[in-house]
Amino acid sequence: MDIKKVLNEVTKEIEQSSSQQELQNVKVAYLGKKGKITELLKSLKDLSLEEKKSSGSKLNLLRIEVDNLIKNKFNDLKIEEINSKLKNEYLDISFPPPNSIASKAHPISKTFDEVITIFGSMGYSVAEGPDIETDFFNFSALNIPENHPAREMQDTFYIDDKDKEGKPYVLRTHTSPVQIRTLLNQKPPVKIIAPGRTYRCDSDSTHSPMFHQVEGLFINENANMGDLKGTLIEFCKQFFNVQNLKVRFRPSYFPFTEPSAEMDIAYEIVNNKIQLGQGDRWLEILGCGMVNPIVLENCNVDTNIYQGFAFGVGLDRITMLKYGLTDIRSFFSGNLNWIASNGFTIGDF
Ligand code: DAH
Repeated sequence: MDIKKVLNEVTKEIEQSSSQQELQNVKVAYLGKKGKITELLKSLKDLSLEEKKSSGSKLNLLRIEVDNLIKNKFNDLKIEEINSKLKNEYLDISFPPPNSIASKAHPISKTFDEVITIFGSMGYSVAEGPDIETDFFNFSALNIPENHPAREMQDTFYIDDKDKEGKPYVLRTHTSPVQIRTLLNQKPPVKIIAPGRTYRCDSDSTHSPMFHQVEGLFINENANMGDLKGTLIEFCKQFFNVQNLKVRFRPSYFPFTEPSAEMDIAYEIVNNKIQLGQGDRWLEILGCGMVNPIVLENCNVDTNIYQGFAFGVGLDRITMLKYGLTDIRSFFSGNLNWIASNGFTIGDF
């Protein structure tokens, strides 16, 4: 039995394989059920005990070595494939698109712009926070307790790295942590919105693992629920371009507001199309409430003097409603045809 010869032969064939399929064929030819090495192992049974011992262990070593060689080559081929893809499908994204494709702004970009303009006209300025948050900002400072369902792994993307408190970082599950960041940095009165990306482990036609929200926060000495309702109704009227807008506020629960509410807008289906503003069906579009004094105290705000309201709106949701789009995943598919038919001419808004 010439083990060296087999090893040389198979090594050569492995080296010469230029695709994963070719390599797979080599694997089958040597290690498969009827492969050469498998056959050699089978033939051991015809040898004497002495020969079995020495050839057996050599053959086993051969089998292990060949297996390793094949695994390594598979890895090399995979890397080569990725590198050649990167090289052949290279796209300079800083280049303007070819003339045949008109530049269009994404509907979400348009919504960002409109939201900032509408709230800007009411005196709100724009605040920002990072996408990767600590447990403190995303949860505990917002009065979300350790065992709250919102913290469940199914919802929250946790990151392996830990923060100073020894807690894993998270991809922010909402824009509410910007409330805390702002209040710790700025003395009241505070009047901000924080539009941005948010993340939750969820995906279907109305949920995407990355989505967008706008947070609102208004703190002064006397802001009240009436101001909150007026602000949100005015925002919706302007955003949806409907003057006669039927809305309702339902009591709800959020750990960071007390009392809490959700706002629904009325709609009806006319000729198979959704029409917003009137009708007897309701769509939930946002959460809101008076900021829980516990949250203000977590940010060292004197609750004997200050109070205020907050709200959080799902931007993908209101964009889909406004333009009658039905699948949130199409927003993030990167499909130029989709943008060409659903995007907006830059400069038009
Ligand atoms: N953070 C909430 C969420 O993502 C939304 C929200 C509700 C924000 C009420 C608020 C609020 O500021 O007051 O589900």
